[in-house]
Amino acid sequence: MAESMMGLKRTHRCTEVTTADIGQEVTVMGWIQKSRNKGGIIFVDLRDRSGILQIIFEESDCGAENFAKAEKLRSEFVVAVTGRVEARSGAVNENLATGAIEVRAHSMRVLAESETPPFPIEENSKTKEELRLKYRFLDLRRPDLQRNLITRSRVATLTRAFLAEEGFLEIETPTLIKSTPEGARDYLVPSRVHPGSFYALPQSPQLFKQLLMCSGYDRYFQLARCYRDEDLRADRQPEFTQIDMELSFVDVDDVLDVNERLLQKLFKEICNFDVQLPIQRMTWREAMDRYGSDKPDLRFGMELKNVSQVVKDCEFVVFKGALENGGSVRGINAEGQGHMPRKKIDALVEYAKGFGARGLAYVAIAEDGSFKSSFAKFMKDEEMKALIAAMDGKPGDLLLFAADRDKVVFDVLGNLRLELARQLGLLKKDDFKFLWVTEFPLLEYSEEEDRYVAMHHPFTMPMDEDIQYIDTDPGRVRAKAYDIVLNGVEMGGGSVRIHQADIQSKMFEVLGFTPERANEQFGFLLSAFKYGVPPHAGLAYGLDRVVMLMVGADSIRDVIAFPKVKDASCLMTEAPGEVDEKQLQELGIEIAAEEAVGVEPK
Ligand code: AMO
Ligand code: AMP
Repeated sequence: MAESMMGLKRTHRCTEVTTADIGQEVTVMGWIQKSRNKGGIIFVDLRDRSGILQIIFEESDCGAENFAKAEKLRSEFVVAVTGRVEARSGAVNENLATGAIEVRAHSMRVLAESETPPFPIEENSKTKEELRLKYRFLDLRRPDLQRNLITRSRVATLTRAFLAEEGFLEIETPTLIKSTPEGARDYLVPSRVHPGSFYALPQSPQLFKQLLMCSGYDRYFQLARCYRDEDLRADRQPEFTQIDMELSFVDVDDVLDVNERLLQKLFKEICNFDVQLPIQRMTWREAMDRYGSDKPDLRFGMELKNVSQVVKDCEFVVFKGALENGGSVRGINAEGQGHMPRKKIDALVEYAKGFGARGLAYVAIAEDGSFKSSFAKFMKDEEMKALIAAMDGKPGDLLLFAADRDKVVFDVLGNLRLELARQLGLLKKDDFKFLWVTEFPLLEYSEEEDRYVAMHHPFTMPMDEDIQYIDTDPGRVRAKAYDIVLNGVEMGGGSVRIHQADIQSKMFEVLGFTPERANEQFGFLLSAFKYGVPPHAGLAYGLDRVVMLMVGADSIRDVIAFPKVKDASCLMTEAPGEVDEKQLQELGIEIAAEEAVGVEPK
C-alpha cells in the first residue's frame, strides 16, 4: 500500500550523501534498484537521478514493522528512507560515488509500488530499442539516458548564458506559419476558421529571424523547435531543436568568430576538451576533392587522390569510359591493408555498389612488392607502376579505385573511406575534429525537378566575385555559406543573407520563381526589405546532433526525451493517430482512400 510523504522532507539526493555526512541523519527518496535479503540483514540499492546509495535494514535499528516492509521491496518501488550515514561495513565499492558509505535505516515509507518492469533498468541496456521506446518513461530512468538529458540541459543553459553575454536577445518566433515549400516537405496544420487553408510548422525560423534583423534586434537567438517531413536516419528526426541565431552588420568572419568561442566554451565545460582556435577552414571544393564529402571526418587520413591524368592513356575500358564521359578516376590508399582477404575486398566492392559504383578496382600490394589486382591485366606494366606511385602505394598497402561521374566517385570513395575507418577502429569518440566548410555552391541542379535549387536556401548571398556568372553559368557561383562539421557530422550551417532587392529577384529568377510566385510566398520578406534592411548573417546548429557528439551516442534518439522512429511514429503514444469524424468535419476535411493519395497501405 502506498504511503504518504506527509511530514517528510528529502535532505539529499542519493549521491549527495558523502563521507562528510558520516554520523548524520539523512532522508533520501528514490527507486529500488535492487534488494538482497541476507537473513537478518537487507541490503538495498536506492536510485535517483544522481546515482545509487546503499541502504541497510536490520530489525534492531528499524523495528519489526519497517523490516517487514523492507522484506517486501521489489525493483522500482518508490521509497523514502530515513537513517544514519555510516562508513561502509563491507568492502568499499570503487565504482560508486557513494561506495565508501551506507545509510542504516531507521524508518521507511513505501511511496509507490511497482509492477515488474518489462526490462531491467540498467546502463547499456541489451533490450531492443523498440520495446524501450514503447516504455520510454522507464527507459528514461536508465543512467545513460539520464546523463544524456542532463548534458542536453547543461548545453542549453550554457548556450543561453554565453549568447546573452555576447549581446544576443532570445526571441520566440511562431510555429504556426505560412507554408513555403522549398527544402524539405512541410508538416501542415489545417485551419478550422479558414476551411481549406493550412498553416505549416516551421522547418526553421529562417524568415522570422531575418525579419527581426529588419526590425533592428541586431543579435537574436532561440532554441527553436523545427519540423521537417523527410526520410529519417540516425541523425534526423521529424521534429528537432536548433540553436538558431542571426546577427546584423556582420560578414562571414564575425559569425564564425562568435561561434568558435561558443563551441570552445561548450566543449570545455561539458567534455573538458580544448577546442583549438581558429577552427580549421576548408572550401567545399577542397573537401570534396580530398574527402569525397562536404562533411569530412578529419579523425583519420586516407584522402582521395585524383589519378585521371595518370591513367588517361590506358586501355582499361572502365577507366577510359569514365574519362571519356567527363568523369574521373580517383583512389584511396588503405595503408597496411594489402593482406585483406579476397572475401573482405569483395564485401567492400558490394558496399561501394550500394553508393552507385558499378565496381571497385583494387591493387593489393604484398610485403615483397608483388601485387594482386582486379585490372592489371588491362594495363601496361609502366602504367601500373605509375598508378601505384601516384597513390604512394607501398608494400602492404591496398589501393581502391572508382571511375565514374564525379558525383558517384565522391560518394563511393567518401563512404568507403568511412567504412574502412569503422572496420579499422579509427573513429575515436573522444577525439573531436572540428572543421568549417566554406564557399558552398549557391545552387545545385536537381535532375528530378529539371532546374536549379538553392543548396542552402534562397536567401543566401552569392560570393561577390561570382555574382557575374549568375546568368551565364549559375552552377559555378559560390555562396557565402558555411557548415560547421565535427567528426564527419554536419552540426550546423548558415550563411550571409542577400539584403539587396536586385540580387534577391535575380536569385528567384534563377530558381525558376516568377515574380508573382516569389511575391505570393515571400512577399512579407520582400516588403520588409524595402524599408531599410541591415546586412545580416546567421547560423543554426542541430542541438540534438551537438549533444549526440558530445556524449558519444550513435543516434540523436539517445539525446531526445521522447523521439520518433523511422516511420515518424511515436511508439509510446502511438502518434500519429486517427481523429474523430467530428474533428474532421469542423476542419472541412475528408479522408481519401489510401490508393488515391498514393500511400502504401500498412
Ligand atoms: P539547416 O537546414 O542546415 O539550416 O539546418 C541547421 C542544422 O539543423 C540540424 N538539422 C537536423 N537535426 C535533426 N533532425 C533533422 N531532421 C535536421 N535537419 C537539420 C543540422 C543542421 O546543420 N535556417 C538555416 C540556418 C541558417 O541559415 O541560419 C537552417 O535551418 O544539424
Ligand atoms: P571487369 O572487367 O568488369 O571485371 O572489371 C575489372 C575491375 O574493374 C573489377 O574489379 C571491377 O570491380 C572494376 N570496376 C568495374 N567498374 C568500375 C568502376 N566504375 N570504377 C572502378 N572500378 C570498376
